[in-house]
Amino acid sequence: FLSRMTSSAAIALTATIMSMGVADAKNFKIAVGDSGGSSQEATGLAFVEALEELSGGEHTGTLFLNGQLGSEQDTVNEAAIGTLDMSILAINNVTPFSPTVGVFSLPYVILSLEDAEKLTQGPIGAELTENTINDAGVRIIAWTYTGFRRLTNSKQPVTSVADLQGLVIRVPKNEIMIDTYKAWGISPTPMAWSETFAGLQTQVVDGQDNPYITINAMKFYEVQKYVTNLRYIFSIEPLIISEQVFQELSAEDQEIVLEAGKRATAASSQFLREKEAEIKELLIEKGMEIMDPVNNEEEFITLATEAVWPKFYDSIGGIEKMNAVLAEIGRDPV
Ligand code: MLT
Repeated sequence: FLSRMTSSAAIALTATIMSMGVADAKNFKIAVGDSGGSSQEATGLAFVEALEELSGGEHTGTLFLNGQLGSEQDTVNEAAIGTLDMSILAINNVTPFSPTVGVFSLPYVILSLEDAEKLTQGPIGAELTENTINDAGVRIIAWTYTGFRRLTNSKQPVTSVADLQGLVIRVPKNEIMIDTYKAWGISPTPMAWSETFAGLQTQVVDGQDNPYITINAMKFYEVQKYVTNLRYIFSIEPLIISEQVFQELSAEDQEIVLEAGKRATAASSQFLREKEAEIKELLIEKGMEIMDPVNNEEEFITLATEAVWPKFYDSIGGIEKMNAVLAEIGRDPV
């Protein structure tokens, strides 16, 4: 009897001590749309490492790769209501919930990694982050830069708009991207990211577009042959935190999370600079044929910008906003 009393008291004491020490310890649940080897994963790992370091080991995070926690668009809803802590996903999958971020997916606006860094890390990025909190209940705390979205397909080499005709191309459920393909003369098939590999494999769709690093991480080389070096969208993939979860953190922990996000953003630029060329070579080794569009992509550029830009000025915040974006990256106003 005595020894039983002692052990139960010891258990109670241990539980008390543990709850005192780790009551606020967090293990953030982080949804990741892509699989291992992706830029999204690299951002997530860098964020968790910084979080652990800045919190002296108190907080951590766990990545759930490959859309395990639902489609990218579903994770925005989950985070908005606070049932998911964080998600790393392509910005084009945030746009349906917060239209002003659509400016990052307008064709041929962002023409380099430097443009992407300037726009996301400057005043425009801060404003869009604020809009995303108000519109979608999620806060952007880090940015992933994955490179230009390249067109892949299983059927035929594509170097011109004419070559594209007849192909069934999967796009995210994103109006800007749908309209861009329409400007190029085809009607694309909107499909969730989590269903895309299966869609390509079963040939429900012939092709899709995503950056080299994503094509490789998702093993699309198993089901796609031809790659066209389009540059219509530079892929930006934020790490978002549920605003509800963020507001429940202490002021000190909020600072830690924001600083860890900054470090993850810097790590993402470095990951892209180090990996993109190497991964392009890897895709060639895996049997993909990579080609450039004819005439420096001119026809793609003209058709897309003329038809798509004006259609979305209102949803991104007006023509003045468009001009502010263009000015920030040294381009002429419209
Ligand atoms: C999409 O095509 O839906 C996304 O860009 C995929 C991704 O997150 O890599």
